[in-house]
Amino acid sequence: MTDSLSVRDNRTNAEYELPISDGTIRAVDLLRITADDEPLVSYDPGFVNTAACRSAITYIDGDAGILEYRGYPIEQLAEHSTHLETAYLLLNGQLPTAEELADWEHLVNTHRLLPDNVKTLIHGFRYDAHPMAMMMSAVASFHTFYRDSRNITDPEARELNIVRLIGKMPTLAAFAYRHSVGRPYVYPDDSLGYCENFLAMLFQGAEPKYEADPRLVRALEVLFILHADHEQNCSTNAVRAVASAGNDPYTSCGAGIGALFGPLHGGANEAVLRMLREIKTVDRVPEFIAGVKDGKGRLMGFGHRVYKNYDPRAKIIKHATEQVFEAVGVDNPLLKIAIELEKIALQDDYFVKRRLYPNVDFYSGLIYEALTFPPEMFTVLFAVPRTVGWLSQWQEGVTDPEAKISRPKQIYTGIRTRDYAHLGER
Ligand code: ACO
Repeated sequence: MTDSLSVRDNRTNAEYELPISDGTIRAVDLLRITADDEPLVSYDPGFVNTAACRSAITYIDGDAGILEYRGYPIEQLAEHSTHLETAYLLLNGQLPTAEELADWEHLVNTHRLLPDNVKTLIHGFRYDAHPMAMMMSAVASFHTFYRDSRNITDPEARELNIVRLIGKMPTLAAFAYRHSVGRPYVYPDDSLGYCENFLAMLFQGAEPKYEADPRLVRALEVLFILHADHEQNCSTNAVRAVASAGNDPYTSCGAGIGALFGPLHGGANEAVLRMLREIKTVDRVPEFIAGVKDGKGRLMGFGHRVYKNYDPRAKIIKHATEQVFEAVGVDNPLLKIAIELEKIALQDDYFVKRRLYPNVDFYSGLIYEALTFPPEMFTVLFAVPRTVGWLSQWQEGVTDPEAKISRPKQIYTGIRTRDYAHLGER
């Protein structure tokens, strides 16, 4: 077997041999194929079949429903690991020893405070500002406080600013939340772990010490592990594209937050909750499904560019949802609607034929609601753990000798050269 692709261009009858490596052809090899002096270009809106980088971080087999971080199956990490341990794994490629983990947790915890001016920045937003907008601006502003972050070729500066951002994301998210509900900010508590401290900064009231239900702390750890990375998704691609221009992690991750905000990406969990509320009762599910099939809207939380099988994260989240509901003791009617939607959609020809299954966002919104978060916070709760993935991918991108500034081509469909017409002549 020869690792190459034989191509015959029927416009010119010319034949070409394109090498295949790693199951891909190089798009630049298409430049050799020309007709009328115009080189052949591949057209791929949305990068449906284009690999933009090499990566050793996350492996997905969408047909088989497999997700692995650095080779470890997501199911095992969700069962045994913590978010910070998984963060170490994603960034460094190996699970830490006990000593390395203790040092890492300590290091991240020492970087949880925000620069004081960031509080002023958050304070400047209207009470009803979307917290994702606050997060985006605040993260982008971090580089003004940490100018060494621009030294992206210096490994020590890279490491320090990665740790800073992982440490600060929960504090920022909690401050944005408390600003929107008009409550005073709660500062990080050194005696608490990453997720426990996050819950305290979010929900502490007048009590001197907030004590989170350990079942909720574990549920948050699991949610954070599941959301930590997902290879070249829309927001990670945004981070890598911005980083490819030589940008620091804060500027790059600010772009990632912007991409994640979209309802087709991280904003889907918020959209799922709104959809469930709109459906209102279980008996209206068939009517809603019929509307989706008629093109009146999408079944939010269903479908995925990569998974053409059950999203492995959705399975774990469904289980976590039941545990959280047990811990908080609520009987949420929206869960019943979600289960009915899933049941019908999984049997319906429209969804089966298109291989549409529940994705990570289908159940996560229900957990966040059970934890009393308003829907605007849902995507923020995605952004906090995904920062770890963005930073791992940022680091890999800026140290990749093959990386180039992101600059796709276009097919120009506009008018060509014409003369400017003065106002009175149009
Ligand atoms: N409900 C109904 N129909 C759907 C859905 C859905 N959720 N998703 C896809 N389809 C249909 C499309 O209409 C299309 O049908 P057609 O072939 O008859 O035209 C077919 O399935 C293929 O859909 P595409 O939009 O081409 O698939 P793509 O891979 O581009 O989109 C996406 C993936 C954006 C996730 C899509 O499935 C969707 O919009 N889902 C709902 C939003 C959502 O849950 N997003 C979260 C994704 S997970 C994440 O980002 C964390």
